Amino acid sequence: MTPRASANRGLFLTLEGVDGAGKSTHLEWLCEHIGKRGHRVVQTREPGGTPLGEQLREILLQHSMHLETETLLMFASRMEHIRSVIEPALARGDWVLSDRFTDATYAYQGGGRELGADRIAPLESWVQQGLQPDRTWLFDLPLEVAKARRGQARQADRFEQENDAFFQRTRFAYLERAQREPSRFKIIDAARSVKEIRAELEADLATLEHQYG
Ligand code: TMP
Repeated sequence: MTPRASANRGLFLTLEGVDGAGKSTHLEWLCEHIGKRGHRVVQTREPGGTPLGEQLREILLQHSMHLETETLLMFASRMEHIRSVIEPALARGDWVLSDRFTDATYAYQGGGRELGADRIAPLESWVQQGLQPDRTWLFDLPLEVAKARRGQARQADRFEQENDAFFQRTRFAYLERAQREPSRFKIIDAARSVKEIRAELEADLATLEHQYG
């Protein structure tokens, strides 16, 4: 059993992966499934998750800006999100499922845009005060497959318009983080069928309940 700060605290779960990896396909289902297992769950996302965060999301996805500004706005959205949504939910015992969190900053700004992790780490410490997800599902698949899936999506935002080298760096930064923290991350082979992926997520939820129960 892994100890938590308080036995009544909810679990903090995050979904990550490059654009087109398919995490959105599973988000609603995961929430419903967690609910069916008897947990109250808050579904949220980054950037966003609060009224201010959603406004920052619009700006971040549509307006060009300096890399440092982009990184700071990601953390501004995150600060609001943690204080107003994530921490209160976890404290009342709800589970939180967030579509992206800080691993995305390490992968996209740190890796994709090559800011480097050492510029991000101090912001992470300041904003999160030790808060980390209990489980991160990293949806991973070959870049060509992700690219084809992105091509089918609605009009591309500022990140989705990036080139192959950007997504290659982003993917590797994610995988590197997963390797460093194998107990938090679970890499999901997203090239498989929806059914197979859901079976894996379901089994992992059972593991988490056992681990933290
Ligand atoms: P989404 O389309 O998965 O909701 O994510 C919005 C975009 O924001 C996605 O392309 C990844 C990007 N992003 C970052 O670049 N850094 C971050 O810290 C977060 C949370 C998202």
